[in-house]
Amino acid sequence: MNTDLSNRKCIITGANSGIGKETTLGLAKMGASIIMLCRNEEKGENVLREIKNSSGNQSVEVMIADMQDYDSIRKFVENYKSIHNKLHILINNAGIMKKKRETNNLGHETTLATNYLGHFLLTNLLLETLQSSAPARIINVTSKSHKRGKIDFDNLMLENNYGRFKAYNNSKLANILFTYELAQRLEDSGVTVNAVHPGAARTNFGREFSERTRKFLKLFKRFTISAEEGAKTSIYLASSPEVEKITGKYWFKCKKVKSSKDSYNREIQRKLWEVSKDLTSL
Ligand SMILES: NC(=O)c1ccc[n+]([C@@H]2O[C@H](COP(=O)([O-])OP(=O)(O)OC[C@H]3O[C@@H](n4cnc5c(N)ncnc54)[C@H](OP(=O)(O)O)[C@@H]3O)[C@@H](O)[C@H]2O)c1
Repeated sequence: MNTDLSNRKCIITGANSGIGKETTLGLAKMGASIIMLCRNEEKGENVLREIKNSSGNQSVEVMIADMQDYDSIRKFVENYKSIHNKLHILINNAGIMKKKRETNNLGHETTLATNYLGHFLLTNLLLETLQSSAPARIINVTSKSHKRGKIDFDNLMLENNYGRFKAYNNSKLANILFTYELAQRLEDSGVTVNAVHPGAARTNFGREFSERTRKFLKLFKRFTISAEEGAKTSIYLASSPEVEKITGKYWFKCKKVKSSKDSYNREIQRKLWEVSKDLTSL
């Protein structure tokens, strides 16, 4: 791809590992100015050196935020806005799956807080900057597993019946509901928003899995793709002129695909938006 992104400013969450790292490298090679949003400075700086060396692009930097901690996200945005006045590409990529139920300082279940609520807040706090930089693009990294997710407004934080897959699938459905609702709200604004399933990619995602689970998953290795391959759709949506005006869609292998029936439910989309606003004190 010969796309030139040298005038484009980009934030990528979870940029120090797996799909986020490969997305950063791909866009850095196209000349984008990139802010790698990482929670761990040392990890971020190590990968930053690699990215600069491999891409030759020196306009890449690390900024710190913890996506489950809303105060830290507010600080990040404040800091970002004090340095930069433009933002053209926001890639909401960071994600986790927690084996045991944990909560953030507000009592929100950590998987939902990290994968969805933190990104809901980050995106909303950056919306004005994105709109004033239009054309701009938002890409939400979700998963095919959203199809097994369910938004139960009476039990969003899975207080009584936590399961790691349940928490993860619900958070990934929330990513898509958010994408569709935001696309409606941003109609004709010059800012597009799309969701991506990267495919089953070999990354550090299973770091919390037990040795036994990891051994079991290795049996399926031949059905998996590299992290580089997993980053392709995010890179495509962030950079290709073909999709400049396309918004409110769900993508896999650089093609529009259908998401689950629940994800298109306007009532759930609207309600989730309102509930998320309250939860993050937006
Ligand atoms: N791999 C797959 O097969 C697959 C399939 C479908 C969807 N996805 C999605 O793809 C995205 C990227 O995952 P990956 O597979 O590349 O996994 P990964 O290698 O584990 O990368 C996840 C990234 O998210 C960061 N992160 C986690 N919690 C964070 C927090 N609280 N604040 C800031 N950053 C945080 C991690 O930082 P640390 O290094 O500091 O932990 C890491 O940089 C996720 O949204 C995941 O749900 C992956």
